[in-house]
Amino acid sequence: MTPLPGRPGSAAGLGERAVPAAVRAVRAFVAAYGREPTLLVRSPARVNLIGEHTDYNDGLCLPVAIDRELCIALRRTDDVPTAGDATLRLVSEQDPAPAVVGLPPPAADTPPPARATGWARYVQGVAVQLAATGELAAIGELAGAGQLAGAGLVPWQGALASDIPLGAGLSSSAALELAVAVACTHLAGSVPAPTELARLAQRAENTWVGAATGLLDQLACVGGIAGHALRIDCRTLTITPVPLPAGLAVVVIDTGSRRELVTSAYADRRAECERAARALAVPALRDLEALPADAASRLDPVALRRARFVIAENARVDAVAEALARGDAEAAGRLLLAGHRGIRDDFEVSGPELDAAVAAAQAAPGCFGARMTGGGFAGCAVALVDRTRLDAFTAAFEPAYSARTGREAVLHVCSAVAGTSVTALR
Ligand code: GLA
Repeated sequence: MTPLPGRPGSAAGLGERAVPAAVRAVRAFVAAYGREPTLLVRSPARVNLIGEHTDYNDGLCLPVAIDRELCIALRRTDDVPTAGDATLRLVSEQDPAPAVVGLPPPAADTPPPARATGWARYVQGVAVQLAATGELAAIGELAGAGQLAGAGLVPWQGALASDIPLGAGLSSSAALELAVAVACTHLAGSVPAPTELARLAQRAENTWVGAATGLLDQLACVGGIAGHALRIDCRTLTITPVPLPAGLAVVVIDTGSRRELVTSAYADRRAECERAARALAVPALRDLEALPADAASRLDPVALRRARFVIAENARVDAVAEALARGDAEAAGRLLLAGHRGIRDDFEVSGPELDAAVAAAQAAPGCFGARMTGGGFAGCAVALVDRTRLDAFTAAFEPAYSARTGREAVLHVCSAVAGTSVTALR
């Protein structure tokens, strides 16, 4: 949930398209290392349509991997003895300081003050987790130890470019984690299952970075399917593709707002949900389809509101998935708006700009429904809009949002794309 390097303001709104991140990553690689990269890893952002704060309650969510991506152009450095030392080295277009991870990576119990800071900590955390699994070490022995360094990790150098807005709740951190994980496993000759990659990336975020997030972001990022939303069961880790109706535009509204201290509020919500589950004697709120009749006497008022939201939100995921599958955008939109009311009033993680964006979107022509998306408090809302009315939607939304907030929003009309991938450049 920490802002990562990218190009603030570069992510194109309606109309403008910047030079794609993939092209910028390749150029940055050549500029940094004076030779051509051999691989390109692409890792999408995600927007969650419904099913918010349900992942750590073992529940359901419905994200979409979107065509705002983080790219790493890279090349292994053990092919030319002089090309690099035994490190993973990643330069970024946004940060003059590269991320450098020595191989073998630090031990998993390295105390936090001795870990990298900022975005480099995510890169290091993934390497630490890969080394800790031991899985790559075994592959390393098969491939010939001489070619591998540091618990099976192949040294490489890379350049990163990103079109994912920073700190906006679109999972720039998960995109980076998965990109690094796919780069490393590909070079080691390993093709882990997407769920294993997601869990590894989550462990890096939870145990190394120190953000106690669920699995939504990583599963959405790695599991993306073009043209589809993903119904994710966070208990079984089953991903079911849900086709998005062709006439429906998924519009991500970056409200321009950002908040500090989101991490501590997130931890509070987790604790409140766990408290509610304990008081209701279930392993997780996922296990309830309705509040028991005596819930008000077993739960404090805060835990009662949190539980009420999570139970209703899980039900909304299936209802939205069914509505989308039958092409009923109006029903899906109504459910999104109900989800926003619940997360605002019962879960209490919305914010003034998010509420203003949802209200302005709902009132604009062509909008079926809107809600805040992601961890909350600030960042992005998502709207489902009639594709034929996008111009009218934008023309009405922008002044209405500015009048309410004094801010300019950036609209991203998004397509659903495939999850993190790696391709050979030559
Ligand atoms: C953040 C977390 C996710 C999830 C969402 C809320 O994005 O990283 O795990 O909990 O908030 O749905």
